[in-house]
Formats: sequence, C-alpha cells, structure tokens
Amino acid sequence: METAGQSFVRVARIHEVEPGLPLGVILDDGRRICLVRDGETIHAVEDRCPHRDFALSGGDVVAPCVVECPWHGARFDVRTGAVLQGPATDALATFVVRLADGEVLVGPRR
Ligand code: FES
Repeated sequence: METAGQSFVRVARIHEVEPGLPLGVILDDGRRICLVRDGETIHAVEDRCPHRDFALSGGDVVAPCVVECPWHGARFDVRTGAVLQGPATDALATFVVRLADGEVLVGPRR
C-alpha cells in the first residue's frame, strides 16, 4: 500500500469493492479495515467486530450501509459505526475515505 499524502493510504481499486460484498484490507501499520460500497460511495470501518474481535469483512451487506457480522449476526451502520443489532454493544471506528483516479484512499479515524 502506498501513502498518498496527508495520512491517506491507497488500499484498493474502486472496482474491487463490489456492491453487497465487504472487502477487508490491512494497512501497513497493521490496522484492519472493512470497505463497504454504497452506490458511488465507499465507507471504511474497522474490520473487527467489537463483540468478539472477529473480522467483519467475511459478512454480508444486508441493507444499504448495513453490514452483518458473520459470527453472531451483529449489525452496524457503516456510515456511523453505530450498532443496529446485538450482540455487539460498542460502535465501530469509522475512517475518512477519498476516491481519486480509480483508487480508494483511507484516511484518519473520524
Ligand atoms: S463476533 Fe461479531 S457478533 Fe459476535
């Protein structure tokens, strides 16, 4: 992965983030990020379910901007990180995303 200035990092090509299919990526600093596409927008949240710390990126996008953890079914709004359905109780961290030249760039935590 390549740094693109101002702490934004290129993590994927836009077309690699398919609608309805979360994509997990790992930043150079080890942070795991889950990308979710909503039309022409891509959201980035931490790829770690706060319920038991398992990856969310193996889950499903069950509604626009809603990802469901594959392990015990917790649901999160990827725009805000908010829990929509337990058993998780803590929100996800969300990250600023920029799209440029066909690339997805992930920036600082919101
Ligand atoms: S690890 Fe995600 S709901 Fe349990």
